[in-house]
Amino acid sequence: MTENQQLGGSYWLQTAPDGRHAALTDDLEVEVAVIGGGIAGLCTAWELARAGRSVAVLEAGRIAAGVTGHTTAKVSALHTLIYDKLRRTRGPEGARLYARSQSEAIERAAGIVRELGIDCDWERRSSYTYVRDAGRVEELRAEASAAREAGLPASFVTATGLPFPVAGAVEVTDQAQFHPRKYLLALADDLVRHGGRIHEDTTVLGLEEGEPCRLSTAAGATVTAGDVVVATHYPIFDRALLFARLSPRRELVVAGSIPAGRDPEGMYITPDENTRSVRTAPYGEDGTRRLLVVTGEHFTPGTGDTRARFDRLTAWTREHFPDVELTHSWATQDNEPTDTVPLVGPLHPGARHAYVATGFSGWGMSGGMMAGRLLAAQITGEECEWSGLYDPRRLAPAVREAPTFLKTQAHVAKHFVGDRLRPAPPVESLPPGEGAVVRAEGGRLAVYRDEEGALHAVSARCTHMGCLVNFNSAERAWECPCHGSRFDTDGKVVQGPATRPLERRDI
Ligand code: FES
Repeated sequence: MTENQQLGGSYWLQTAPDGRHAALTDDLEVEVAVIGGGIAGLCTAWELARAGRSVAVLEAGRIAAGVTGHTTAKVSALHTLIYDKLRRTRGPEGARLYARSQSEAIERAAGIVRELGIDCDWERRSSYTYVRDAGRVEELRAEASAAREAGLPASFVTATGLPFPVAGAVEVTDQAQFHPRKYLLALADDLVRHGGRIHEDTTVLGLEEGEPCRLSTAAGATVTAGDVVVATHYPIFDRALLFARLSPRRELVVAGSIPAGRDPEGMYITPDENTRSVRTAPYGEDGTRRLLVVTGEHFTPGTGDTRARFDRLTAWTREHFPDVELTHSWATQDNEPTDTVPLVGPLHPGARHAYVATGFSGWGMSGGMMAGRLLAAQITGEECEWSGLYDPRRLAPAVREAPTFLKTQAHVAKHFVGDRLRPAPPVESLPPGEGAVVRAEGGRLAVYRDEEGALHAVSARCTHMGCLVNFNSAERAWECPCHGSRFDTDGKVVQGPATRPLERRDI
């Protein structure tokens, strides 16, 4: 077992209450049904409940525990390098709307924390994008200028609180960081106080759009709703084929305490070194230590050696923060849209009552809060200045997104075909704790050998669109490289877009 497997999972999940909401067993009628209880879904439902709508959140697992429970939890409008690109692709007005929508979401959350008195370690900090390579300084200067022009309090700096020199950084002041699960559980409680319903362990399998819309759940219940929001991270219903415009990206996190005097006092990210992101959070009772959270090593799910990636991230953290006492490690997953801007709005060109929120890249905190405001405005018929910017129907992929769109499709095709030609190892060679895709009568099997030596076999065909899954041995999960679905070692879905488990097989 590696050091990272011995460390605990998500710090956020382990340090927040474990409240439960009952699964939906009976039919239900509401004005709005929100599928997915992550930050985008909960914020949307909360905004709508506050606007007087009857709302139900339907979550396949537990609320605020999926991607939202594994985030770095920076609430920032500076998204690595985006404003210079937006200025070029969507014009200065597009960049300005992006900055305003994200900033307004942050201030909305700050207001909610104050109003509800939420104890969620909300802290104001500067957000930085830095580089150590002098050759990239001009890129950062351009980003600082574009972010400033977009309306953010941004500047180019060369001094930061990091324990190593940087060649340059963009600093945006007065951003925020928090404990995401504490915040969202308080929001969920307030949602219920305002008449909203939350059902966990409720998997939605079918959506029939109409007036009203009808949802069917795995337990056989029907939910009738005037409007439906699909906020399942990767959309589980996708008539507009949004999956072709999203690339899944997985990223690793290690965390542990450091002396408070070593706190770099800010939220940092660099596009160098396969991404390194650093922030801290309150830790312990006496204020002598802070929790350090370091993220990086992004990769396509189901590819490469995740143990080696964890080792690299751990080594980097120990090198730069030698006093760290590591206690936690986990992983998170993002969806990157081909044109960088999240997809929030009508689910497809003909949609009248179905909406989607997806593609937040690594910035789902401010993005999810923004999506909540935007979707609630659209459903209640309010104007919103940035509807067009985020509209999922906004562009023809062939025009603006062609290179990235084609790359995404080539990647999927490569896995769909190439993975079937891969040589398969013999089952006998599998050590305990390992999994592999093997050949068997009737197709490929995904086989895992548990610590006691027993074999667990499921079909290796992803139930989303049929690509072959691969084993992530560091996290002991089957991962699909095509669109990022993930399954546990018995085939149960832990991450969509797949909604059905991998079929059990005998071996
Ligand atoms: Fe789409 Fe597996 S996630 S085929």
